Amino acid sequence: MDDYISVQTAAKKWKVTPRWVNDYCNNGRIPGAKRWEGKKDWLIPKNTKKPVDARTKTAKAKSGEAKPFLKWAGGKGQLLTEIGKYYPFAEKKHIKKYAEPFVGGGAVLFDVLNKHTVDEVYISDINAELINTYITIRDNSDELISRLKTMESDYLAKDADARKKAYLEARARFNALKRDGIRDAEAATLMIFLNRTCFNGLYRVNKAGDYNVPMGAYKNPQICNEDNLLNVSKKLQNANIICGDYKDSASFIDDKTFVYFDPPYRPLTKTANFTSYTEHLFDDSKQLELANFVQDLDNKGALIVISNSDPKNTDENDNFFDDAYSKQNIRRVAANRMINRNSDARGKINELLITNF
Ligand SMILES: C[S@@+](CC[C@H](N)C(=O)[O-])C[C@H]1O[C@@H](n2cnc3c(N)ncnc32)[C@H](O)[C@@H]1O
Repeated sequence: MDDYISVQTAAKKWKVTPRWVNDYCNNGRIPGAKRWEGKKDWLIPKNTKKPVDARTKTAKAKSGEAKPFLKWAGGKGQLLTEIGKYYPFAEKKHIKKYAEPFVGGGAVLFDVLNKHTVDEVYISDINAELINTYITIRDNSDELISRLKTMESDYLAKDADARKKAYLEARARFNALKRDGIRDAEAATLMIFLNRTCFNGLYRVNKAGDYNVPMGAYKNPQICNEDNLLNVSKKLQNANIICGDYKDSASFIDDKTFVYFDPPYRPLTKTANFTSYTEHLFDDSKQLELANFVQDLDNKGALIVISNSDPKNTDENDNFFDDAYSKQNIRRVAANRMINRNSDARGKINELLITNF
C-alpha cells in the first residue's frame, strides 16, 4: 500500500480538485491506478506525474468537439466569431448541406460541425496530401493514431541532433511518397508529424513539388492528439472529401447549401505573394473566375460567404474585390495579420467578408 497515494493526496500534490483526479482515473489517464479493495476510491501509484493536458482541452475533447488537426496558413481561427454571425440556421442548429471547397485546416468546418447537425457535408482542397490526411482520419483513424503515437514517443526521446536527423528522414520519406503519388496512412502520419514539428506549421513546396520546410524549434511538440483525431473522425464519417478544384463542388451545391469559400488570399503587396500551398498559383484571373463561379451559385439559390484580403489596407484606390463582387454584400472586419512577411507591418488590418445574403 505504501506505493500508492489517495485521490486527496494526489489532488493536493497536483494542485487540482479531487474530482479532477477521479476524472483522470476514470478516463484511464493514470497508468497503474486501481480501486481500493471493495471501495470505489482510486489508489494512485506514488510517483505518478500529473497528466499533461490542460483541463479545458480535456473537457472540450470529452464533449466531442473537433478542432483543426493541422496548423494551416490562412487559418480562420480568429475570424470565427465574425464568420459565425452568418451561419444562417443557428436557431435550429441544423444545416441541410454544408460545402467548404477550399477547406485547408478547416477552422470554419469544425466550428460549423461543432455547433450544428449537418445532413450532408462536402469539403475539398487541391492539396492531395492534405486531403489524404482528412480521408485517413475519417476511414482509418486507428492505424493513423497508432503510427503517430510511435513517432511521437520515438521523437520526444531523442536529443536535438537525433531529432533533426529524424525530421529530415521523415521529410525525405514524405516527399518520396508524394512523388510516387502514394496516399495512405503512412503519408497521412508524416503529414501530421511534419506539420507539428516543422517551422511555424508551414506547408510549402519548391518548384519540383517537394515539401521543403525546415525543422521548428519546439521543445515538446504534441504530435498525436488522440482525443481530437477521434472527434474529427466521428464528425467526418458522412463527409464527401474530395481532392480537386473548387469548381468540382458545383454538382453538390444547391439551394439548400450553405457554402464557405476561403481561397488563397490575394497578396496585399507585390512581395507578399504567399502562393505556395501547392504547386498551383491563385492569381488575379483565378480570383475573378471564383467571383463568376460564386455568381452562378448565387443564381442557384445557395447561401454563400467568401473571405479574402482587403486591398484597401495598402491602396485605398484598389477596388478589385468591390468590382468583382459588385452584386454581393461586402463587409470589412478587423483581423490580426502580417501584411508582408518582410516588413514590420503587423497588427490590425481589415479582411473582407463577402456574402450573398
Ligand atoms: C486560405 S487556405 C484555407 C484556409 C482554411 N480556411 C483554414 O482555416 O485553415 C486556401 C486553401 O485553398 C487550397 N486551394 C488552392 N487552390 C485551390 C483550388 N483551385 N481548388 C481548391 N482548393 C484550392 C489551398 O491548398 C489551401 O488549403
